[in-house]
Amino acid sequence: MDNCKKKHSIDGHTKIFGLIGNPVGHTLSPVLHNTLAEFYGHNLIYGAFPVTEDPMKAVEGAYALGIGGLNVTVPHKSAVMPALVEIDDFALKIGAVNTLVRVEGKGYKGYNTDMPGLYRAMEQEGIQISGETIVILGAGGAARAVAMMTASKGAARVYVLNRTPGKAQAIVSEIRSFYPECQMTAGSLSDSSRLPDGKFLCIQATSIGMSPNVDRAVIEDPAFYERIHTGFDLVYNPYDTKFMQLVRQAGGRAYNGLNMLLYQGVIAYELWNEMEVGAEAVDRVRQRLKKEMGLSDETAGD
Ligand code: ATR
Repeated sequence: MDNCKKKHSIDGHTKIFGLIGNPVGHTLSPVLHNTLAEFYGHNLIYGAFPVTEDPMKAVEGAYALGIGGLNVTVPHKSAVMPALVEIDDFALKIGAVNTLVRVEGKGYKGYNTDMPGLYRAMEQEGIQISGETIVILGAGGAARAVAMMTASKGAARVYVLNRTPGKAQAIVSEIRSFYPECQMTAGSLSDSSRLPDGKFLCIQATSIGMSPNVDRAVIEDPAFYERIHTGFDLVYNPYDTKFMQLVRQAGGRAYNGLNMLLYQGVIAYELWNEMEVGAEAVDRVRQRLKKEMGLSDETAGD
């Protein structure tokens, strides 16, 4: 509780925000948002609500209670959509919302800040998407959103490779209908050894390598890693994944998903409070998240 000394007092005007999902016990979002509120002196608090029953009822109840906004996580990201009064166009394309913004007198408008968050995290590192060749590993909900984002940001060529190639094919067929100019190809993981010449940006969007299975990567063939100039893993726990290690060992640059997590929250906070979050506040939150994850100061300094 060493951070309590500067905390604002909670009173009758305190706006309430929160996360709905199941489970929510492990979430870093309260640390993220309450740190921003503390930094800016905003009279708001953010909590986590485990929603084990119909999430539509939770959204309606939250509106009735005057909740200022919600984040939505697994497994409710698509299930809440019918309860919303409006849905942002990009969130509709992705088919999932993670941020609900209160529209007074009506209900909530849904957004997806995960992909803008990933894009902002990449921009901060100077990672380009427009005109690039990109390999996405995985074809679950996260990979689907990443594929949509890369197509929307003008990637020249995108390969979606997955253990179950039919799921990759379904993603590619759907995204082609939105972005016909992006050349998108589906394949199996073994197709990774048959990619055309040249180096690429690789985005790791499977669940492989997450704690506690930290010594695994979805592809382990060193020849594949020779082809990657930049590797971005959506996983952030562990902080240095096996995928990232393989990228670096082959001479590429490697990033984890912590900044994506950070910026999806920052963008939600910006939507709720109609403001821009500055670099100093972002740094403060990053340090706080790393501390929460038990990372040392040395790791935290990068
Ligand atoms: P999310 O919503 O986080 O994307 P998901 O929809 O469960 O989660 O997707 C998990 C991804 O990790 C999928 O691409 C999955 O591959 P399949 O579509 O073939 O299931 C991939 N994945 C999970 N376990 C895997 C394993 N042991 N080997 C290879 N890929 C795996």
